[in-house]
Order: sequence, then structure tokens, then C-alpha cells
Amino acid sequence: MKIKKVVIPVAGKGTRFLPATKEIPKEMIPILDRPMIHYAVEEAVKANIEEVIFVTSKGKEVIEKYFQRNSTLEEFLSKNGKEKQLQNIKNIGDMISFKTVEQSEQLGLGHAVLCAEELVGDEPFAVILGDDLILSSEPVVGQLMKISEEKNFSPVIGVMEVPNEETFRYGIVSGNMLNDKTLKMDSMVEKPEPQNAPTNLATPGRYILTPDIFQCLKEIPRGSGGEYQLTDAINHLAKKRDVYAHVFEGDRFDTGNLDCYLNAMVEFALRDQRTEGLMRNIIKDKAAQMERGLL
Ligand code: UTP
Repeated sequence: MKIKKVVIPVAGKGTRFLPATKEIPKEMIPILDRPMIHYAVEEAVKANIEEVIFVTSKGKEVIEKYFQRNSTLEEFLSKNGKEKQLQNIKNIGDMISFKTVEQSEQLGLGHAVLCAEELVGDEPFAVILGDDLILSSEPVVGQLMKISEEKNFSPVIGVMEVPNEETFRYGIVSGNMLNDKTLKMDSMVEKPEPQNAPTNLATPGRYILTPDIFQCLKEIPRGSGGEYQLTDAINHLAKKRDVYAHVFEGDRFDTGNLDCYLNAMVEFALRDQRTEGLMRNIIKDKAAQMERGLL
């Protein structure tokens, strides 16, 4: 057995990014020179996943299109001797195979994952949330896939340590540590205040799930915000079978709101050899201007 498929839900409305998301899907907003969704798909490719399943919604067709070949543009670049750019865009269309299913009503992340049931079939699969970007030497879904395989293809939730005072922003897991990185999960608590948080291990959008999650998704009632929450279904699953959480290696950047997006852009620019020097100079100049009271 091998984990071959990843579900990437992209059907959300992206209201925190209006007005840009009025006409452009949030996932198509770029970090440096590529849309956010490109990084999510790249993570799956690096983990040797074979198929991406987008859960999409009306008006987001451009996401699928981005991952298809564009023969007109390819011809133009070829005729004009722009070989490097040509290879760049050809590779996008050839990265991996894609399937799409529509979520006709945005009833929450849990509901979005349930929409992929038929395309996933009866096998374990990965889930990547495209607005959580993670820079790591080994792709995070790949790290979780390894743990899942070691545990006989059990569900594994990717977690990261957060400062105690920030637990109220995340889903937080509790359970028994099996070693310094992996724990057997008892439950997941949605956004607990620090004094009520069982741990400081937060869940930023990387999962290995098993097909029995679909039954759990059908059994849960609407949860927080009136939406079907994936967290609730995972909690339900953990009562029926062993579910693990694993502290992944990597630096995670939320891009779902303006503050975090801006921070991600600066960090990505500092870590990309094409832009690192430029970014450092900008930061130095701005710091000097601030010191002189010019900013
Ligand atoms: P978010 O909670 O970030 O929601 O969803 P959102 O709609 O994208 O953004 P805001 O909060 O309105 O600004 C987390 C992930 O789940 C997907 C989103 O596309 C995003 O990748 N999602 C959410 C769905 O696919 N369907 C839904 O019904 C809800």
C-alpha cells in the first residue's frame, strides 16, 4: 500500500482577503512569483504523491487552468527564444495529475473533505490546506506519510509547537507522547484559551486520513460557525481507532489574512536566492530611514 492521493480544499470564500478575493481565488494570490496553490501542489509532488484532488467551487476554475498546459503562451515563448520561461510554465502542467470535485455550498472544511469521498475511494490519503505554507527540507506530508506507514497506515495529524499564549488561535491536540515527536491522540480541542489548553501542539493543515473519516464526517453535526468541522470528525475518529499526531520539521506561514501574508512574503523573499539580497537591502534602508525619523 502507498499513499497516492492528496485532497486540497480550495472552495472557501477567502473573506479575510477581500477585495482581492472578490474575483481572484485566494489560492491564486502570489507569494513572490507563484500563486500560493503552487507551493501546496509542489509539496505533494516532492512527497511522491501521484494525484491531486481539488475540492473547488464556482468561480475558481482558474486554479485548475493554472495547472493545465497553455499552448498559446508556450508557442509565443518558444518563438521568442524564451527557453527558461517556457520550461518554467511547461513544468507546471506536467507536475502531477489532477482531478476536481465541486463543493456546491461552502459548509466548512469537513464538508469539503467529504466531497472528495468518491475520488479518494477506499485508501488512505493526505490533506493539505493551501493557505498554510510550510518551508522544510523534507515535505511535511512526506514526513507524516512515513509515520502513517510505520503505524500500519493510521491517520496522522501534523502538529507544531506554538507559544502557550497563542493556543486560542488553533486546534490543539491532546494525548500520550510515544516519543519526543509523536503522540497517540485522545482528542483535539478547537481554539482553547491558554489556561484550558491540554498542550501547545497546534494543527496547521496537514493530515494523513483514512477512508473511515468519511463516515465520521457524515455522523457529526454542524460545529463551530455552523460549519461541518474536520476537527470534529477527527475527534470522532479517534474514539473508534488509533489516531496519531506528529510534530513535523518545518517553518509554517499562515497566509490567510493580511498580516500573516505580509510576513510570509518577506520570509519567502529572504529565503529565495533570487530575492534575498534585495530584501536585505530594503530592510536595511527602511531601518535606517526609521532611525533618522524619516518613516
Ligand atoms: P478558511 O477557514 O481559511 O476559510 O478555510 P476561507 O473561506 O478560505 O477564508 P476566510 O476565512 O473566509 O477568509 C480553510 C481551508 O478550507 C477550505 C478553504 O478554501 C481553505 O483552503 N474550505 C473552507 C473549503 O474548501 N470549503 C469550505 O466550505 C470552507
